[in-house]
Amino acid sequence: MALKSINPTTTESWGALQSHFETIKPKHLKELFEVNPNRVKDLTVEWEDFYVDFSKNRFTKETLSMLIELANEVDLKDAITKYFEGEIINATEGRAVLHTALRTNNDDEVFVDGKNVIPEVFEVKQKIKNFTQSVVSGEHKGFTGKPMTDVVNIGIGGSDLGPAMVVDSLQYYKNHLSTHFVSNVDGDHYNEVVKNLNPETTLFVIVSKTFTTQETLSNANSIKSWFLKSLPNEAISKHFVAVSTNIESVKAFGIDEANVFPMKDWVGGRFSLWSAVGLSISLSLGYENFENLLVGANKMDEHFRTSEFENNIPVISALLTIWYNNFFKAESEAIIPYTQYLNQFGTYLQQGIMESNGKYVDRNGNAINYQTGTIIWGEPGTNSQHAFFQLIHQGTKLIPADFIGFIESLYGNKDHHDKLMSNYFAQTEALMNGKTKDEVLEELNGQDISEEQKKRLLPYKVFKGNKPTTSILIKKLTPESLGKLIAMYEHKIFVQGIIWNIYSYDQFGVELGKQLAKSILNELKSDDNTENHDSSTQNLLKFYKNNC
Ligand code: F6P
Repeated sequence: MALKSINPTTTESWGALQSHFETIKPKHLKELFEVNPNRVKDLTVEWEDFYVDFSKNRFTKETLSMLIELANEVDLKDAITKYFEGEIINATEGRAVLHTALRTNNDDEVFVDGKNVIPEVFEVKQKIKNFTQSVVSGEHKGFTGKPMTDVVNIGIGGSDLGPAMVVDSLQYYKNHLSTHFVSNVDGDHYNEVVKNLNPETTLFVIVSKTFTTQETLSNANSIKSWFLKSLPNEAISKHFVAVSTNIESVKAFGIDEANVFPMKDWVGGRFSLWSAVGLSISLSLGYENFENLLVGANKMDEHFRTSEFENNIPVISALLTIWYNNFFKAESEAIIPYTQYLNQFGTYLQQGIMESNGKYVDRNGNAINYQTGTIIWGEPGTNSQHAFFQLIHQGTKLIPADFIGFIESLYGNKDHHDKLMSNYFAQTEALMNGKTKDEVLEELNGQDISEEQKKRLLPYKVFKGNKPTTSILIKKLTPESLGKLIAMYEHKIFVQGIIWNIYSYDQFGVELGKQLAKSILNELKSDDNTENHDSSTQNLLKFYKNNC
């Protein structure tokens, strides 16, 4: 059965939230804390190794109840059941959305077209496990009899960002294999990667759900040519494997079917790191760590599927986005991990969130008259404090931010970790409280400057505060906790899409540019100039061709 289609702005709760917003908007967070001594308790969720404090957000327990009422009115519960049970909720592509089935237990049953897909999921997992073990142990040898030292993942979008982010984030758990990622069709990218590699000891993993993506196929072909300069064609089977749904095209590329790790069309590219797309993760971290990542995600799935909305981390987090995006009219959200390991987390989430919810047509096929998808950005703290935090503190825009921190560091340097975390706590406190005129004056009075200088400086030094943050504190960065964190954002995306009444799992918006690039490429490669473009593009093309 299809997802229901309800314009959220026509619900009773939306109207109620609109009037409630008028009462919350002028209030300072400090005031919200003053009036409710139980605020932290009311607005914090503790679950497993996660402690999520929502209390520094510009809402109250009452707001949360009203937002939950909105979720009930659009029948979020029914949508969650359909999501997990393999209904065709990606209706525009006619597919189920079942990345959750990739991390479920062996004895679960999930049906697609009347067939339980779990046995096949476990077959592929077994293939990943066996292959990982043989490559990591050195049993799998290259054509000249040497064990592998390097793995190169060739893919783009979901076939790159997920594996690249996880391998980078969990580098502490890595084995001896060096893992590289080639994604951009920019030829300099793959050249920089292969220039120091020995083809005799390198394994190439070509990852493309469709096996039609221009960037991936160009890189795979160029890398294959580079490889064949040193080794014969028969060596391909020892050095090239693929992950795809399109087995025929993989075979046509020259890879044996035995070296294909299949995936299903009910796994969206940006949610595919749990599937065979995660092969590079498994190779790089070992199968057990890959499995633990899946275990973590599965635990978050269960939390999301079964917890009441008032204690449900992805649900509350999604509702807050609706609150800021549609009532406060905030346009972006920042994700600030206080660990250098999560350096690529923001980029990864940009695809997950923006490719999913950047939509302007609702589930009835009508143009939407309210805001959808938020703009996602962010970099690790403390680096980002020295880059863009000025704007969050004193700029004119409202930017709700998720602060992700860990109680333990991996190498255990307590002194550094305390410094890091003191910044984590200090920033959320400063963003909330700001600095009043009186506080600034007191500070200026302690300085050896004239009264006139004090007066002049005063307005620049005042921070209004009232900047919302969510503190996500996790015990330690492990494969399991990372799995939970990623799944948390996946479910947040789902909830937002349900409430905004959009289809979150297609991505037609990226097609137009791809089509145009194809026809422009033909023009760049031919001598004729067509006049089929606007004058700006026409001149740019001419200038490029005349100067290269
Ligand atoms: O950017 C569009 C997109 O279709 C993504 O959704 C996908 O992750 C990426 O291209 C790569 O696609 P494929 O895995 O089919 O090469």
